[in-house]
Amino acid sequence: MSDQENVTPTQTARRLEGRRALVTGANSGIGRAIALRLAQEGASVCINFVVNPQAADEVVNEIKAGGGKAFAAQADVTSEEQVDAMIGRAAGDFGGLDILVNNAGMETHHPFLEMPLDAWRKVIDVDLTGAFLCAQRAARLMVKNERGGAIVNITSVHQIIPWGGFAHYCAAKAGMDMMTKTIALELANQKVRVNSVAPGAIATPINRNVWSDPQGLKDLLRKIPSERMGQPEEIASVVAFLCSDEASYVTGAVLYADGGMALYPEFMHGG
Ligand code: BGC
Repeated sequence: MSDQENVTPTQTARRLEGRRALVTGANSGIGRAIALRLAQEGASVCINFVVNPQAADEVVNEIKAGGGKAFAAQADVTSEEQVDAMIGRAAGDFGGLDILVNNAGMETHHPFLEMPLDAWRKVIDVDLTGAFLCAQRAARLMVKNERGGAIVNITSVHQIIPWGGFAHYCAAKAGMDMMTKTIALELANQKVRVNSVAPGAIATPINRNVWSDPQGLKDLLRKIPSERMGQPEEIASVVAFLCSDEASYVTGAVLYADGGMALYPEFMHGG
């Protein structure tokens, strides 16, 4: 096999050897791909989940089968006690924490005039407050860490693109963006880098109702200049880069991985 043929998308460098990571919502979709990728690059990974323990165990087993270290930790990211217990366990089992990926998130559709307060609160709680809690507790450990740490927040193109029926989700994601930048600023001189990755339409269970419906998929693809949905692995590779020393001077940044969705697709052909 020539060197050229050897370079396949599944071949990864081991840029995270010896790092200790926690990925929230790591038993499905984008979180699962991130956990697998970090492990492939040499990190030990705590697989956070809230429901579906079997799916979390599958990720753990896949990592172990590849020679990596992982364990599953059930915790609701909105609960201070549960987050503290999980981070304590990750730091205890692994001997510290170098990487946090705030990926856990949810969305529900409610036209604004009908959005119940509890739906608003739930999404803000999971998507924004959960990320705050995990970031704060992880960062408290990272600032004491000799080699510092890296936090990556998974936001969305909807941190800048308004989305009808999802006022809570858009507000949470825009909030995560400013939270990312503000904590990046506060922690920059303590060797903790904080960045976000803003995915576009990635085919995962969260949006299955759209991509599994031919008309829904057609409407969606019109909004994506690359004319295809993304795969979870295409987010994971960006996250791995931001966690690695190759991004050692990158903090407070947002990296869009969206096939151009945030580029005003309607303007593609002039007119
Ligand atoms: C949402 C998906 C949606 C995508 C593009 C993401 O943040 O989770 O459901 O397909 O944005 O609109």
